[in-house]
Amino acid sequence: MAEQAAGDTVGEIDVEALSEDQARAELERLAGLLAQANLAYHTEDAPEISDADYDALKRRNVAIEERFPELKREDSPSEQVGAALAEGFGKIRHAQRMMSLSNAFDDDEVRDFDRGIRRYLGLAEDAPLPFTAEPKIDGLSLSLRYENGTLIQAATRGDGATGENVTANARTIDDIPQQLEGAPELLEVRGEVYMSHADFEALNERQEARGGKPFANPRNAAAGSLRQLDPEITRARPLKFFAYAWGELSAPLAETQMGAIERLAALGFQTNPLTRLCDGPQDMLDHYARIEEQRATLGYDIDGVVYKVNDLALQARLGFRSTTPRWAIAHKFPAELAWTRLEAIDIQVGRTGALSPVARLTPVTVGGVVVSNATLHNEDYIAGRDASGTPIRDGKDIRVGDWVQVYRAGDVIPKIADVDLSKRPDGAEPYAFPETCPECGSEAIREEGDAVRRCSGGLICPAQAVEKMKHFVSRSAFDIEGLGAKQVEQFYRDGWIAEPAEIFTLRERYGSGLQQLKNREGWGEKSTNNLFDAIDEKRKIELGRVLFSLGIRHVGEVVANDLARHYLSWSAMIAAIDAAR
Ligand code: IVH
Repeated sequence: MAEQAAGDTVGEIDVEALSEDQARAELERLAGLLAQANLAYHTEDAPEISDADYDALKRRNVAIEERFPELKREDSPSEQVGAALAEGFGKIRHAQRMMSLSNAFDDDEVRDFDRGIRRYLGLAEDAPLPFTAEPKIDGLSLSLRYENGTLIQAATRGDGATGENVTANARTIDDIPQQLEGAPELLEVRGEVYMSHADFEALNERQEARGGKPFANPRNAAAGSLRQLDPEITRARPLKFFAYAWGELSAPLAETQMGAIERLAALGFQTNPLTRLCDGPQDMLDHYARIEEQRATLGYDIDGVVYKVNDLALQARLGFRSTTPRWAIAHKFPAELAWTRLEAIDIQVGRTGALSPVARLTPVTVGGVVVSNATLHNEDYIAGRDASGTPIRDGKDIRVGDWVQVYRAGDVIPKIADVDLSKRPDGAEPYAFPETCPECGSEAIREEGDAVRRCSGGLICPAQAVEKMKHFVSRSAFDIEGLGAKQVEQFYRDGWIAEPAEIFTLRERYGSGLQQLKNREGWGEKSTNNLFDAIDEKRKIELGRVLFSLGIRHVGEVVANDLARHYLSWSAMIAAIDAAR
């Protein structure tokens, strides 16, 4: 059911093209689909959509939330890990949250991960920064608590904060030691419970022989087996466990990730034999390729490779986002591909003036989802080269009319991966990327070192002005009640506000002639007064919000709040900027 719903619209409306109402409805739809998918996967162990489709829905949700931060739901799926707990198990609050991992879907995203960490830590490009690389096991995570070397508790991840108490079941798994020699007084070991292919097939045969329903895949079989209310059933199911992480500890296991894994192995845990120490992104990608080659013969399911910063002191400095660590990423194996016709290339203008080329495609189903739009990234990508001029796709450019390959590796916005030159129509012309803004006609400039061409029109560009103002009033910025994206569009269209500052003169300019606003569609005297009051309420807000609202490139919510915490006041910050000039 969920699959069909996902197939109905995902990819049909580009996130950039959504109106606020569509975005709100879409966020609601995605929250519903994801909740249903979570329930099926985590609580009922009977998934209804593929992992790639699940990732795609989640990414689409994040992309819409990034574009419409004010529409982010209280129950936003991006703030959630896992799902509600099944009935029947006691609950265990994790001493340290069990985290999820952010994903990378291609080599560039892995290199970006390394670059981002260096930037965060202030490390030079050539400073050593080793990572571990290990298979991402497709099972379910489990946290084991040992006190004075004795296993006292086992809990599933649950929603990350609270899991199910499956201690009796975990005790039946051979790979999970009941006693440890030489362990820290308190040790929480985390890892993945999984089932091998051979055991999965044998179990399904037994199930069917008994007239039972077969499991869809080894992950479901493992989850269903661990979460049996009767531990004797779990005992009869051949579950395995790889240790790869830890929670609360009374003493550190080692100074490095690799050292900690070796320590866990020495304590008697199974650790994955394909875990390697890599000296940087190329080495990580090489190891990824090796693991991918062995994937089919491993005898158990993996769905990617996990990279982790090796130095635990650096891991501690990097810390966590709301549900994922900054120091790790899962590089997923690629998903579905399909070929279709590129009908047109449209240019969208974003808040920072970025001109984004969007491929309009003859609709095609990619992994169960109908795709009719895809990103073309930037002009270099269309021309067949990367930002440094190196050829990509063997230097093949992309032209309107081309037969193109669509790639949807869990990406919310599908990408064009390749082009078939043998099917290029006669007379197809190389795409001329616009050098003026299609919205306002201003010159579109590409600065040195920037992959993106940007409209130079600033607030005179209607697309930029509206997007900047939507950002200005968004939930993490001025958050003015009654002034959302729709109202900003309306007021801009009617010439009432052309730039953010004009929001604060609305009452002055139109308050006495209340009638004017009042007579507009959707506005009555009360709502008008409420709006003016809501604007007045925000004449003084936290510095971090002001900085974020300005929409300065590279100054997102986190940086804005860091700056605010550092400078404490606008005047102190301006004085520091002046002094630095
Ligand atoms: S590390 C704080 N390593 O993937 C980071 N996770 O998508 C903890 N998983 O919840 C996770 N293999 O259940 C890590 N080698 C591995 C893994 C792995 C599988 C699972 C784990 C996690 C999920 C995130």
